Amino acid sequence: MNHLLSTEHMPRDLIEAILDDSDEFGEVLTRPIPKVPALRGRTVATMFFEPSTRTRMSFEKAAKALSADTVTFSPSTSALSKGESLKDTALTVWAMGVDLMVVRHSSTGAPWRLAEWLDIPIINGGDGANQHPTQALLDCLTIRQRFGTLDGLHIAIVGDIKHSRVARSNVFAMATLGAEVTLVGPPTLLPVDVENWPVKATADLDAVLPTVDVVYLLRVQTERGGSSVFPSFSEYAERFGMSSERFAALRPESVVLHPGPINRGVEIGHDVADHERSLILAQVTNGVAVRMAVLFRLLGGDHDE
Ligand code: CP
Repeated sequence: MNHLLSTEHMPRDLIEAILDDSDEFGEVLTRPIPKVPALRGRTVATMFFEPSTRTRMSFEKAAKALSADTVTFSPSTSALSKGESLKDTALTVWAMGVDLMVVRHSSTGAPWRLAEWLDIPIINGGDGANQHPTQALLDCLTIRQRFGTLDGLHIAIVGDIKHSRVARSNVFAMATLGAEVTLVGPPTLLPVDVENWPVKATADLDAVLPTVDVVYLLRVQTERGGSSVFPSFSEYAERFGMSSERFAALRPESVVLHPGPINRGVEIGHDVADHERSLILAQVTNGVAVRMAVLFRLLGGDHDE
């Protein structure tokens, strides 16, 4: 693996190997000194051209837990405001002696361009509505830890699928690991090419709930126009929100995931978000371990060492 840009076409054995490594790095993070010297002397740059709490901070935590140095690019205080291009910005940071870049950008494909321009590994931290591969890996890890496997599980992904890089990455990773995935949302928020995805699709959330092991809720992507296709957030919550009443229709072993940030009272009820069968904070914790596994795989040299 030279870069991590997408989960589409990722082989099953590679995904499983990253999840196995993540379990081991997760154990490292529980030690009194949660740090190993694996990437001492290496420098990881986080280049986030869009806002982030979870992804950027967990990559920084992961890099530091591997003893790498980190440098952080902040668009609002950078030379972007003086007209510097994405390519010149990337080349400038690379010339400082950076060994790997994590990139988030509003434009689909931006991480692929950096992978062409620079001779270092690139990790896609989210590009437009396209891909967010480490989010899918941490979600699959969280589900695997709960159920032991994704093989044969029924997973419903609910909400604004059309504008969601999280949904796109998860559909391909989950299907590759053997899960049956059903997309649930209004037809206007399903992707135009949904027939090419390895999924079923429906607008009837209540019909699906009693059959699923995992409900994966999505935030409406207002920044990408997601809220313009339904009348109001209260109507959206009425049809697609995971209220306490809907939660009661789930099987007792079923769990709820959400990539964050959550909008309580819209896609997820207050009580559901805080329920013991909500794995939202476990997802965040697993994000550090998964990102350690990915950084180590891309920068750690001989993986068997
Ligand atoms: N899930 C996710 O990508 O969250 P952030 O936008 O906070 O990184």
